[in-house]
This record gives sequence, C-alpha cells and structure tokens, in this order.
Amino acid sequence: MTTRPILTTESGAPVADNQNSQSAGPGGPLLIQDQQLMEKLARFNRERIPERVVHARGSGAFGYFEVTEEVSRFTRAAFLAEPGRRTEVFVRFSTVAGGLGSGDAVRDPRGFAVKFYTEEGNYDLVGNNTPVFFIRDPLKFPDFIHSQKRDPFTGVQEPENVWDFFSHSPEATHQFTWLFGDRGIPASYRHMHGFGSHTYQWVNAEGEAFWVKYHFKTDQGVRTLTAEQAAELHGRDPDSHQRDLHGAIERGLFPSWTLYVQLMPVAEAGTYRFDPFDLTKVWPHADYPLVKVGRLTLDRNPDNVFAEVEQAAFSPNNFVPGIGPSPDKMLQGRLFAYGDAHRYRLGVNHTQLPVNAPHATQAATYGRDGAMRADGNGSRSKNYEPNSFGGPAQTGVPLAAGIEVSGVTGSHRNPAHAEDDDFVQAGALYRVMSEAERERLVGNIAAALAQVPDDAIVTRALAHFAAADHDYGFRVETAVKALRG
Ligand code: HEM
Repeated sequence: MTTRPILTTESGAPVADNQNSQSAGPGGPLLIQDQQLMEKLARFNRERIPERVVHARGSGAFGYFEVTEEVSRFTRAAFLAEPGRRTEVFVRFSTVAGGLGSGDAVRDPRGFAVKFYTEEGNYDLVGNNTPVFFIRDPLKFPDFIHSQKRDPFTGVQEPENVWDFFSHSPEATHQFTWLFGDRGIPASYRHMHGFGSHTYQWVNAEGEAFWVKYHFKTDQGVRTLTAEQAAELHGRDPDSHQRDLHGAIERGLFPSWTLYVQLMPVAEAGTYRFDPFDLTKVWPHADYPLVKVGRLTLDRNPDNVFAEVEQAAFSPNNFVPGIGPSPDKMLQGRLFAYGDAHRYRLGVNHTQLPVNAPHATQAATYGRDGAMRADGNGSRSKNYEPNSFGGPAQTGVPLAAGIEVSGVTGSHRNPAHAEDDDFVQAGALYRVMSEAERERLVGNIAAALAQVPDDAIVTRALAHFAAADHDYGFRVETAVKALRG
C-alpha cells in the first residue's frame, strides 16, 4: 500500500476531515471554526482573474527556435547570431473576439504570440495569423473591438455593429477580404501561418538599420474550414484547436514553422510605393523577397494551463539588443497597451511568474515591492541607482537605432505614398483568388452583411468592396440583394 501525503490547510496544518463539514451536532448548522471549509469556499470564489480584454481564448506550448541561416549582417540580436543557435520559446495562439470559454472554430483572426527566452532578455513577438490588420491608428482599437464584441443592449454580437464600423473604416477592406476568405477559419493552430504583421527594426553590429516584417510559415501546410465545416465542428467540439494542439504534442507530432523575414533598407522607406508603416498593407514579395531565418518548433505542453497559459503576459515592447520598434502608429499604441493590461490583469509583479520571467538570464532592476512579490524582493541590496555599492548599472548602448523625424506635433495622418489607398491591396487579394475561393468569399460576406437591417450601412459597406474591385463589389451586392429579398 502506498502512503499518501497528509492533506493540509494552506498554512500547513493537517486536515482531519475533507468530506464532512463541522456542524453543531449531527444535522446541525455549520461552524465558522471549520478552517478547511472556510478556506476552501473562499479560495474557490477567487479562482478567476480578469480574462484578457481581447484574445481571451487561447492555447499555449513551449518549444525552441533554431537559427538555420546566417542573418547576423542584418541584426546583432544574440539569439539570431549564427546557424545552429537554439532559444527556448513559449507560444500562445488565440482567437480574438470571444471570451475565455468561447469556441475555437470561428471566423476570427488568430493570435500568434511568441516569447523568445534569450540570453539578453525575453523578446516578445506578438503577432497574428494575418499579415495585415483592420485599422491603422490605435485610437480606433477600443471602438473596433466594441463593434466586434457583444452589444451592450442585446448582449450578443451584432452584425449591424460589425458592418457599421466597417462601413466607416474603408482601411479595413483588405483585412475583411482576408477574414471572409478561406483563411478566415484555420482548421487548427498548427495549420496556419503566423506574422509579426507590423514593421519592426533590425540593427546590425555596425549600427546599420533595416525595416523588417516577420513571416512564420507552417510546416504542416495551411488547412482551413468552410463556414459549414466550422459550424459543424464548433457544435461537436468547441475546444477543437486546444484539443488538436495539445493532442499533437502529447503524441510527439511536434508542430513547426519556418521563419522568414522581409528586409527593407531604411533609406528606401520614404519613397516606397506603399507606406511601409501602414498595418493595413503588405509589402508584396516581388518588392521585398522572403529571407529565411530558422525554425520554430513546439515540443512541450504546459504542465498547468492557468499557471503557464492564462498567466502568460506578452508585450510588444519587450525587445532585445538588435531589434526595435518602427513608427507604425498601431505598434506604438501597443507598446503601451500590453504592459498596462498585464498590470491590471495579473499585477505589477507578473514579470516574476515563471512563464514570464527571463529563463536564459536574470532580471536586475531596482523595482521593488508591490502586491505578491515572491522572489525575495532584492533582499538587502540597495533599491536606488546610481549607488556606491556595486548595483546593476546601465550599458549606455541603445537596443535599436534612432528614427529620424521632422515636423510639428499634432494629430496627423501619415504622408501618402505613391500607391497608397484603402482599396488597392484588397482588390489585388481578390484577384489572386481562384474562382471557387471568390465564390466562397462573396457567399461568406453576403451571409453576414445581409443580416444588417440598416440600408445605409449596407450601402456604405458595399461601396468599399466595389472600390477594391468592380466585379467583387457587384457580386457581393447581388448576393446580398438575393438574401435580403
Ligand atoms: C492598437 C492596437 C492594439 C491594442 C491596443 C491591443 C491591445 C491588446 C490587449 C490589451 C491585449 C490583452 C493583453 C493581456 O491581457 O494579456 C491584447 C492581446 C493580444 N493582441 Fe493586441 N492589441 C492591438 C492590436 C493587435 C495587433 C495588430 C495584433 C497582431 C498583429 C495583436 C495581437 C495580439 C495577441 C496575439 C494577443 C494575445 C497575446 C497572448 O496570447 O497573451 N494585437 N491586445
């Protein structure tokens, strides 16, 4: 017979009975002195923390990134220094609009957030499975998300809100075309690409800077679901993505992605045909071809979903030497938003949780105290800087290169580039689709748009598709009319 460890209260005292609450005599009311009962009920009430305001539903796994090509002439990031170098990673995939308990097989972008535990600190690349996004200014993000989430009055997602926002946001036409196309519902997290989406900066050892876009190409191949397949799967197994990822890794089928980058010499940005910092645009590969970097492999499931997935905190401004931000306004907004979200959701000491703390180096800061500090809090060391006691000191070396700016402060639109408009790339995407894909795209859009009762919203939305491509607009309009009667 195996001896079981003794069950204790949270303060470590042995529990006498974990099946029967203490009562005032058999059949009598319960006693406040029953510490096990009080503690269990009180702790249970506090199990939930605020869910992420977006990307609440997700799945995570650990693994490694291995450099396979020489890219050190573009960045001095140590973890990319030479082929063969391996860095531990944690990746969290997610849907965007649904809450923590929502289903996986839905039409929605997927988050693709990678934490590289490098020897120079954690590098977080917090991207999506789409190369572009709906909007190009962070001021619009809360409004955009409100339009996608439950309506304050009806309590359900309203097509009217989704399409009303779209009809006032022509820059979303590219992403809407992407989302309502075949790739709008990935079959699983393993069968989709990942993108950094934004433009970032790489800087090499000589101080030479490049603008860079990241592309993780799935080695499993892209697989998607039609609207009908997704509805069936969602009904049968709401946790399909979680089950797929977890099961594959448990079976030893380790998913991997090949990382490529597009690199633009900084001097070319000003005259490029598209604004290279506009998140609603891609850089066509004909302009900037893909350069291979390495492979991301996921080979270990978290031992505990709450500890390692729910408490994971990614922040786009966790950079390492050799990598930095671009002036993309959306990215700039995100550099603030994530740390703030984590301080609210997890607390000021979230950076000490095992999944978020550096693994290949140690943090050395003068930050102290705060709720739930659990790491010794700097012990006896001085908590100010400069000091005369050998405490950590600055390097004087910026992580990335400075960005040249000019002009006056104010609420500006970015300067227009030669081929910039809100529709050109949406039209191009429509035209590269096969006839069968276009058919499904038009059907998916029409099925959603036809549910909107307000004629003015429908008319404004249709105009965006027509501006992207005459045939696209005509077909969506015809399909919507047929459905609305
Ligand atoms: C200005 C625009 C944006 C704002 C203000 C914003 C804000 C947020 C916030 C507050 C969270 C929740 C963080 C948490 O509680 O842990 C979040 C999660 C996330 N966002 Fe954004 N977001 C923006 C745009 C984007 C874009 C453009 C992408 C992708 C390219 C993206 C990808 C993600 C991902 C992947 C997550 C989930 C991270 C995780 O798995 O923990 N977001 N965002």
